[in-house]
Amino acid sequence: MKQFFPAELIKKKRQGLPHERAELEFMVQHFVVGTIPDYQMSAWLMAVFFRGMTPEETAWLTEIMMNSGRVLPFRDQGRWAVDKHSTGGVGDKTSLILTPLVAACGGLVPMMAGRGLGHTGGTLDKLEAIPGMNVHLEIDRFVQTVETLGGAISGQTKEVCPADMKLYALRDVTATVESIPLICASIMSKKLAEGLSSLVLDVKFGSGAFMKTASDAHKLAEALIQIGEHHGVRVTAVLTNMDQPLGRFIGNSVEVFECLEIMKGQSFFENDIDFYSDTRELTIELAIEMLLAAQLAPHREAARAKAAETLKSGAALNKFLAICAAQGAVPDWKLPVSPSEHIVRYDGPAGYVTLLDSEGIGYAAIQLGAGRLQSTDKIDHSAGIELFVKVGLPIEPGQKVFRLFSQNPQTLALAERRLKTCLQVGPQPPAPAPLIYGYVTAKGVEYAN
Ligand code: URA
Repeated sequence: MKQFFPAELIKKKRQGLPHERAELEFMVQHFVVGTIPDYQMSAWLMAVFFRGMTPEETAWLTEIMMNSGRVLPFRDQGRWAVDKHSTGGVGDKTSLILTPLVAACGGLVPMMAGRGLGHTGGTLDKLEAIPGMNVHLEIDRFVQTVETLGGAISGQTKEVCPADMKLYALRDVTATVESIPLICASIMSKKLAEGLSSLVLDVKFGSGAFMKTASDAHKLAEALIQIGEHHGVRVTAVLTNMDQPLGRFIGNSVEVFECLEIMKGQSFFENDIDFYSDTRELTIELAIEMLLAAQLAPHREAARAKAAETLKSGAALNKFLAICAAQGAVPDWKLPVSPSEHIVRYDGPAGYVTLLDSEGIGYAAIQLGAGRLQSTDKIDHSAGIELFVKVGLPIEPGQKVFRLFSQNPQTLALAERRLKTCLQVGPQPPAPAPLIYGYVTAKGVEYAN
């Protein structure tokens, strides 16, 4: 490999100059083996954050990261694997239902997921709330589980996409997440390493997403689709609203609980609305796209009926339990429950909820122990937040707004202080914002009505 001085490459990017492929190879490969330390990589990531990358550099970075490990065999064997990936949100737990749901419909879903990133939660951290669950499966066991059960969820390992595993953990704690080239390379390197034929992306925008506007989400979707097309993977992106947390819970154990409830056909009504309805609706929408992408349904209505029936019949739940067992979950597992909890009440004038700042709520969940402040931090899987309000609902003084869970009672007051700034109330309800904003494919965008 050609040799460079890391500080010179950091300076080059700091000056806004594009890298050669060999320079990117040098940075990534040395970082993976540890000969470029975290402090130099952090400085380079921050330079990329501010200076960006050309489409060519982004494509190279993706390929270099993908080739840092092995690529799964599905596509080479002529088998049609499909997956979904979200660009990250708060309370976004759909992967936990989608993988077993699509597997139960006959799909092949080798889901390679991530941990919490910035203020957003991660599928792997959620799954690790299940006692015994192994989310870093060895490659042969991962492939075998996908082949026998139709799906498995694992993280990047030393064997598959190790570059993303290390870079992801560093970006999480160095405020270098919200960069289109870094997000593209992170998502697409691990998705391409899965050996997929098609991919469905949930590209989020709003206060709890990395892209704050629909137009930035659209740009990110197009960049992701372009990389997929270049590698022969058919990519569909669903643009979805993340202006408030999804569902009833934010955290790890509590989000697994919400998914189990939905897979058992349960609802949870509070203030006249079902707090599971948005999680359920988004899951079904993404399942429709996955079933169509994998050619498991002839058209949208048939896909909707198939997804809804698989959820209602309990087939998705049974598949989820089978996948957990295959990934090491102990028999009859129970989710950890927090020893201390605290209710936060609203103390302003009556009105309507106009804003639930999801990024702030995500950081409050981290403060409670549900995420990491430093890459070596251990997560409190029982920590989290329950929501009692949604944007547009009426609210009165003294009404319950959040329930906080944490093993560390000292964090409750800190999180409460932050959460109070995340809620805004006005005299009128805001205009309703649809959960699904539009669909983007290589052919263009179609707005939902
Ligand atoms: N999801 C990922 O896997 N990587 C990112 O950078 C953002 C969301």
